[in-house]
Amino acid sequence: MKENKNQHVWRDYFSMLLNAGLPWVLMAVCFGLSMLKAIMSLALANQITVALKDYSNIKEAIPELWKLIGILLVGIAASVAGIHLQGIVGAQVDRNVQRYAVDNVLYLKTKDLEENDTRNFITRLTDDACKNSPFLIELTINEIPRIYYIIAAIIAVRKIGQPTLTGAMFLLIPCIVILSLVSGKITFTNRNKVQTKLAAVTAKLAEKIDDIELIKSYSTEEKEIKSGNEVLDELSKVRKEGALVDHINKYIKNMIWFIDVAIMVIPPTLLMFKGVIDRTVYYAYILLVSRFETYIREHLIVWVYLKEAQGATRRLSAVLNMENEKSVSAETAFNSGDIEFINVCFAYGEENVLNDVSFVIEKSKKTGIVGLSGSGKSTVLNLIEKFYEPDEGKILIGGKDISKLDYTDYRSRFAYLPQNAPCVSGTVREMLNYSTQREYSDEELVKALKDVMLYDDIMKLGGLDYQIGHNGENLSGGQRQKLGIARMLLSDSEYVMLDEATSALDPEATAAIQKKIDEKCRGKTLIVVAHDLSTIENADKVLVFDKGRMIAEGTHRQLKEKLPLYRDLVKGDR
Ligand SMILES: Nc1ncnc2c1ncn2[C@@H]1O[C@H](COP(=O)(O)OP(=O)(O)OP(=O)(O)O)[C@@H](O)[C@H]1O
Ligand SMILES: [Mg+2]
Repeated sequence: MKENKNQHVWRDYFSMLLNAGLPWVLMAVCFGLSMLKAIMSLALANQITVALKDYSNIKEAIPELWKLIGILLVGIAASVAGIHLQGIVGAQVDRNVQRYAVDNVLYLKTKDLEENDTRNFITRLTDDACKNSPFLIELTINEIPRIYYIIAAIIAVRKIGQPTLTGAMFLLIPCIVILSLVSGKITFTNRNKVQTKLAAVTAKLAEKIDDIELIKSYSTEEKEIKSGNEVLDELSKVRKEGALVDHINKYIKNMIWFIDVAIMVIPPTLLMFKGVIDRTVYYAYILLVSRFETYIREHLIVWVYLKEAQGATRRLSAVLNMENEKSVSAETAFNSGDIEFINVCFAYGEENVLNDVSFVIEKSKKTGIVGLSGSGKSTVLNLIEKFYEPDEGKILIGGKDISKLDYTDYRSRFAYLPQNAPCVSGTVREMLNYSTQREYSDEELVKALKDVMLYDDIMKLGGLDYQIGHNGENLSGGQRQKLGIARMLLSDSEYVMLDEATSALDPEATAAIQKKIDEKCRGKTLIVVAHDLSTIENADKVLVFDKGRMIAEGTHRQLKEKLPLYRDLVKGDR
């Protein structure tokens, strides 16, 4: 997976956010509230000079004091509402980016998914997808009000006419910059170290949990626990070091903050004692400068958010910029007809697993595909299903190149039962209804289960609501295959492809179920990959594969007569 290290990172950042969709209205409201808070902070400093003057009559002071309280309350309300709504903006942006990213990942091409460690995608989708909103919020909602305040506060302090105060205000800036840079760098390095270790621990533990059955069957629990503990110890060591550095960092921060406070408080206090400024100017200055200090600090934190967003975008766009099935424009409408392979070559890696393969699978007929293990049978089905594209040659359906057809529409024409009958987790009912054209009634589901001789087993296990587990692990291999066939029998698709669909069943069940499949698929285009040649004896045509080449085609009878390899396959000798 190539990570984006060049200048396109910001183009990717904004295009990702715009594609994911932004809550513009809410963002505009938040901007308004942020601006209101800045304006109220300036107004408060101004009003304090009026409200706290030495009035001879208290009655004169009361309206000004009310005004002061009003400004204060509006400022607090804008700040509280702003914090809350910005939290909502962040959550919405994160959700939209996550949806957009997940949507893209599900449409990635099979070949790209295989070439990358997909476990890597998980932290990108969960963690990295949520690191973009803080920078966006600061940039679009808070930065302009902050800069407005900083400039206005400098002008207001200059108006006081005391160069000492203006100088003190400017002196704050390098102090805050140094403070933020030093402590930011320490925190960043620390967090990075812990995150990297944590990611390693997560990957290691995920791997062990994935392989738990294998570990048990090889009795390597003790060895695995030992190596797992070593990784956990490393994490704990990094965490302990990190805690110490964090602690020292906190002290440094506090000490530098005292310097900030001294710069803010000492010059105006001295000027007030000397009688150069009065009490009201003193309060106004303290108000202006303390918010000025906060805004400068917040302004510098934006840099941290920027760096975080930059890193997260690099990692995310490495996934999002991969070619995606949706990005291929569908030029041609689906036209049902024969499936034709014309001089097709295909390699998963370096070596071709299909070599110059040409054949025709006729529409509405039954075609068998046979050959030794590894000869390329499943690969043919994967190419028809558009999981991969041929490196050379063409595949046509109804005379049209399938590479030009929309993936989702195209695949919806096929009922494909891959080798080993993979299942989605959930109940038997959910599996049978998974991605079918419509929701089937329980009566229809029961009939399909009876057709594949699975009804009694499922009833004993708990009926249609029985949880089949992750990839159907709560079923036997044969039950999984029967369930896959039942789902396929329910489907109305005009093309049906079965890859070793009955390999785990006994001969009796195989014959009965194959009969049901043949009945149900009469008039459809049925493609059957089989080791057990009894299932394709009645096929209209059989294609024989050997080492990635199609070496013969014909009916079962013709091939038995002319091809020794086929005779061996029939006898089960090879
Ligand atoms: N995803 C993959 N990545 C890399 N190589 C693969 C992949 N799938 C299959 N192969 C290789 O391609 C070749 C053809 O595999 P394929 O699965 O098409 O054979 P098959 O005829 O279906 O075999 P079997 O009867 O054992 O199912 C094999 O050498 C196999 O190792
Ligand atoms: Mg296979």
